[in-house]
Amino acid sequence: MHKLAVLTGGGDCPGLNAVIRAVVRSANQYGLEVLGIKDGFHGAVEGEFIPLTLADVSGILPRGGTILGTTNRDNPFEYVSNVNGVRQPLDRSEDVLRNFQEAGIDALLAIGGDGSLNISLKFAEKGFPVIGIPKTIDNDLMATDQTFGFQTAVETAQEALDRLHTTAESHHRVMVLEVMGRYAGWIALYAGVAGGADVILIPEIPYNLNRVAYSVQKRAKQGKKFSIIVVAEGAKPLGGEMVVDRLLPGRSDPVKLGGIGAKLGNDLEKHFGLETRVTVLGHLQRGGSPNSYDRVLASRYGTAAVDAALEGKFGIMVALHGRDIVQVPLHQAVDQLKQVPVTDPLLITARSLGIEMGD
Ligand code: F6P
Repeated sequence: MHKLAVLTGGGDCPGLNAVIRAVVRSANQYGLEVLGIKDGFHGAVEGEFIPLTLADVSGILPRGGTILGTTNRDNPFEYVSNVNGVRQPLDRSEDVLRNFQEAGIDALLAIGGDGSLNISLKFAEKGFPVIGIPKTIDNDLMATDQTFGFQTAVETAQEALDRLHTTAESHHRVMVLEVMGRYAGWIALYAGVAGGADVILIPEIPYNLNRVAYSVQKRAKQGKKFSIIVVAEGAKPLGGEMVVDRLLPGRSDPVKLGGIGAKLGNDLEKHFGLETRVTVLGHLQRGGSPNSYDRVLASRYGTAAVDAALEGKFGIMVALHGRDIVQVPLHQAVDQLKQVPVTDPLLITARSLGIEMGD
């Protein structure tokens, strides 16, 4: 083991640079070289590698984004290429393996969510040594208690809820905050509890509009003339569908969500006469400096991935189980999404607090 490569794939999140720094610093302790792959698997196909030294990662611990760049397109197994003037998806995975061999890369550390880790698994199945590192603000990866980036996103959403509270109270309004979370409502649930939301709507629990309106009206009768609703972008009304903003061809999940907050706000005004304003938090949740929890978790994941490479453990993902960083088979992380179960302790706490979950 002489040379490791590291890439960041999929949507960015706070803490990516902290992982890259941890990988380079830890590898340096053992005399290993590290190459950074630019823009995720795009750079793997195109052979865009840059050496990463201690100097390159100096000062990046608190920086948001990724110094390597990322993309949520460019799957090497269906890489859109120009063939005789026609754009079509081609399997370019052998090009990636050839590029890795030419660059002398002994193992790949792939920092990603379900999309990038699925691609990584395919390379592992082809026999290339791969180690996954779990990233996503959505926290929807199985086999780990937590992905890095999630806690910072929750903090950002909670701060937004704090701000919405004061203006909601002044104007006696309903304020809706739409947060990210395509198929899992972890951000909405955690930020909602932390930010004192009155209603939390998540993809796992289709909501009954009457119940949402009733809980707002009940509060008003009790003298609370404002309400705060946090809704995950993937939430849907009972018997309804998720609100799709547009389709983005060429991505592993081409559905771009967005608009459930506006729909909910309109419905509350139209059918119940409740004055409502809607805020979409969007990519503010993905940007900015990681909080201390995510810096620590990212640093632990980065160093544990280098340890795994030195132990010759491949086809695995480093994961958080309790306070320990462990190694789990990569396929366990991507076989299934981690949604909020009905028995989730925080969901139960939310209900005990009297928060309306829409069902
Ligand atoms: O990282 C996951 C996520 O934040 C989802 O919650 C969201 O739907 C998606 O990324 C949006 O990604 P992008 O705007 O980069 O296409």
